[in-house]
Amino acid sequence: MNLTYKLFLSVLISVVIFFGLFVTVVIKIEKDKVNEIFYSKIEHNKEIYSASISTLLYTLNEDVIKSMITSIYKDKEIAKLELIDNSKLIKIKIDNKTYKNENLVKSLISLKYNDEDLGKLIIYYSKDLIFEHLKNYQFIIFSFALLLTLILILILYFFINKVSSSLKLLTKASVKIANGDLSQEIKIDERKDEIGILSEQFNLMRKALIRRRKINKRQLVELKEKDLILIQQTKMAAMGEMLENIAHQWRQPLSVISTAATGAKLQKEMDTLSDTELTSILTSINNSAQYLSSTIEYFRGFFDPRNNKERKLLISSIIEKALSLINTQFEDKNIQIITNIEDCTILSIENELIQVFVNILNNSRDALLKIESKEKLVFIDTKVKKNSLIIEIKDNAQGIDERIIDKIFELYFTTKHQSQGTGVGLYMCENIIRNHLKGSITVKNVSFKYKDIPYTGTNFTIKISLKHLK
Ligand SMILES: Nc1ncnc2c1ncn2[C@@H]1O[C@H](COP(=O)(O)OP(=O)(O)O)[C@@H](O)[C@H]1O
Ligand SMILES: [Mg+2]
Repeated sequence: MNLTYKLFLSVLISVVIFFGLFVTVVIKIEKDKVNEIFYSKIEHNKEIYSASISTLLYTLNEDVIKSMITSIYKDKEIAKLELIDNSKLIKIKIDNKTYKNENLVKSLISLKYNDEDLGKLIIYYSKDLIFEHLKNYQFIIFSFALLLTLILILILYFFINKVSSSLKLLTKASVKIANGDLSQEIKIDERKDEIGILSEQFNLMRKALIRRRKINKRQLVELKEKDLILIQQTKMAAMGEMLENIAHQWRQPLSVISTAATGAKLQKEMDTLSDTELTSILTSINNSAQYLSSTIEYFRGFFDPRNNKERKLLISSIIEKALSLINTQFEDKNIQIITNIEDCTILSIENELIQVFVNILNNSRDALLKIESKEKLVFIDTKVKKNSLIIEIKDNAQGIDERIIDKIFELYFTTKHQSQGTGVGLYMCENIIRNHLKGSITVKNVSFKYKDIPYTGTNFTIKISLKHLK
């Protein structure tokens, strides 16, 4: 049931109740009034007739009495008349009218003259006239009330309709707004009532929303710009982590090349360079150059945009590629990487996952370089468990201070010197794992034994769902 209907119905009910009561009360008052007049008339007649007819009866003037009684009987309200003479000389009884109402009111008038009881006059009054009058009265009042009710209902209907059509407009517009359409302005003619205020406020709200939407769009653009800057920064950070590795991998072959070339030049100047020696030097230079070109392949792959597409990949191959990017450095610094891989296919962007491994491994390297222990260990374990791939990367670098462990995934959080740390690495890892792989990455400090020797360190756990591959 809509609002208009409810409003209309409740108003209708109240109007009907009001007029019902009004009609009942008015009719009751009229009835009382008419009855009072009726009975006072009876009393009045009693006095008059008692005096006049007693005198006539005393003188036994029958003709006059008869004409008198006949004239009394002309009264429309008198139904029957009866004169009883105690001397039994005169007897009059008139009853020739038709009356509907059997409930006659009897009025007994004693006829006396000088204390002598002469007889009695009995008059029966009929209430037909009163009923007739009341019926007409009722009809008029009822018609009047009905007419008034109709007029009132019409006026109310007009008002309610006007209010409800405005409300309907408002409802329509608010539904539109709720659905994100801000194009509809509410046009309600100038009014100073609540509806007018409501629609005015509504239009103001709509304008505010339009303004807000514009601001939101601008903020979105700004956010996107910020995002782009951040992506740029993370790329630079990733590049930095990689370049460090390249520099490391190239140092040794480059020094081989340079030593061989300077040696050959010196020998040539002293004229001691034999052909076989030259061949062996050139071979060694060539070998080193080959090595350089093979390592650059790995890095080329990492920066190759073709590897930025989502593909089905073997986790073992990703780990292998990540390790080939960092292994020289780790070997140089006596860091052992122990892998225990349960292989499986995942859907991912190769470069991104490699970046995750490189970032975590580089952090372990940085932490391991700070410890005294001779044994510098990193473990990489992968396991497939209930439709999930679980990757654990663990080191023995004594772990992370519990006071900061909750902060390490935050952007720009670093404990390293400005020239070394950016605080971008783990933020990027979490971003890739959570947003691109819909997985999770967590960290905890662990104590463990390797070859019966106890160690403590950091353990990163990455969980990736494999469900979508099935
Ligand atoms: N394996 C780890 N051992 C100890 N501390 C770590 C390890 N990995 C990360 N951290 C801590 O987390 C911080 C944030 O790491 P990251 O986001 O990669 O930034 P950055 O390496 O540039 O400092 C590091 O500065 C370091 O304090
Ligand atoms: Mg780092």
